[in-house]
Amino acid sequence: MASSRDLFLSSVLLMSLFLTLSEAREFLVGGKPNAWKIPSSDSLNKWAGALRFQIGDSLVWNYDSSKDSVLQVTKTDYETCNTSSPMAAYKDDNTRVKLERSGPYHFISGAEEHCQKGQKLIVVVMSKRSQFMGISPAPSPVKFDDPAMALTSSAVVLKRGLVAIVGVLMGLALF
Ligand SMILES: *[C@@H]1O[C@H](CO)[C@@H](O)[C@H](O)[C@H]1NC(C)=O
Repeated sequence: MASSRDLFLSSVLLMSLFLTLSEAREFLVGGKPNAWKIPSSDSLNKWAGALRFQIGDSLVWNYDSSKDSVLQVTKTDYETCNTSSPMAAYKDDNTRVKLERSGPYHFISGAEEHCQKGQKLIVVVMSKRSQFMGISPAPSPVKFDDPAMALTSSAVVLKRGLVAIVGVLMGLALF
């Protein structure tokens, strides 16, 4: 019979296994190439709202740097579309930003009048805690417009499932 100490140790092991192996993902902003432009509706934030971002994930913007840019700004500057003092500015066709902390991130276009016309994005990164509570990584791959993205996403979910199974098996082997 396993003592409660053994049980405790193996659960700690399992937890750390889950945390270390949970994968960092990369999200193409808007779910398809060249989606960083004046949107026809609120499509950018609709896209972001349907996803669960975790610490360590990255956002990737795909755009033409001769016409556009990506500014990371404060909440106030996001609301007023103030491009004068961004926290970070990117203009390199293929911007990649790693989400290093939980909470909201605000991005707007640096192109004249683009933010006013709706080219802005809020991404909320889940806290470590809600991440650990097992909130599903992505509600439904069907949300993606691009079939390639949908495939990537379900592959990640599948991999996470495998990691969980391996973790449980390793836990069982301890007894
Ligand atoms: C934009 O932000 C700058 C720096 O924070 C500030 O000085 C300026 O007044 C702001 N402009 C508007 C239109 O809010």
